[in-house]
Amino acid sequence: MSDTTETMSTQTARYSSVAIALHWIIALLVLTLIALGLYMDHASIDDPTPLHNLHKALGILVMLLVVVRIIWRLTHKAPSLPQDMPKQQRIAAMSVEGILYIFQILMPATGWLAMSAIAAPVVMFGLFSWPNIPLPESVLESGSLSTILFPLHQWLSWFFAGFIALHILAALYHRIIRRDQIIFRMLPERCAPKDDAR
Ligand code: HEM
Ligand code: HEM
Repeated sequence: MSDTTETMSTQTARYSSVAIALHWIIALLVLTLIALGLYMDHASIDDPTPLHNLHKALGILVMLLVVVRIIWRLTHKAPSLPQDMPKQQRIAAMSVEGILYIFQILMPATGWLAMSAIAAPVVMFGLFSWPNIPLPESVLESGSLSTILFPLHQWLSWFFAGFIALHILAALYHRIIRRDQIIFRMLPERCAPKDDAR
């Protein structure tokens, strides 16, 4: 069966292997970025530490992977949620996942724009400089954009973390309380239990 549409393991429709790989790589990177963000020394924004540089480079990497993920999502059908799942739960799951997509774009975009607003290029793992977004000279001189964007990036990160927590709690609820197969939709086929019936 094609890898580009949903595939079936007996009863459970699952995401394609590309969608699964992108989900877990991005999830791991985002959780690392949040941990780094909290741990970084915020007083040293003008004199970035190696942790700052790592945070910024990983953030740009997430942005590039998210572009690939969105293109993949728009061009490949995702498996529909099971019909025996209550309608409100299906709406809640789809809404949270949609919101997570929006944050996956907003977080790197505000970070990149904030660095562009102070004309500080992001050094990608010590290898090359990621270009700044070109901004008018007046914006760079006034510094007003960066004073909005840095707090915005921080505030958004809290909401992002909140929605991620909801998403993870929902996955645990499905596995532990409802004891259904939802988690296996986002795991490789070999992880599915042998009696893969709902
Ligand atoms: C998915 C991507 C990203 C996530 C989840 C993320 C998350 C975070 C978090 C949690 C913080 C700390 C907030 C706080 O202390 O309240 C932070 C701070 C920061 N982030 Fe990001 N970030 C991302 C992408 C980026 C990118 C792409 C850049 C720049 C190119 C960037 C630059 C910064 C900077 C400079 C700070 C420190 C701000 C300050 O100390 O005032 N971030 N980020
Ligand atoms: C331990 C952590 C996580 C678990 C257990 C988990 C689990 C899952 C599962 C089971 C699905 C499929 C839901 C369905 O069948 O509709 C899913 C989808 C999704 N997850 Fe996660 N996830 C985790 C972390 C994250 C993180 C950190 C993010 C944010 C970047 C995220 C973003 C998404 C998105 C956007 C979807 C929808 C995929 C699509 O329809 O294209 N997940 N997750």
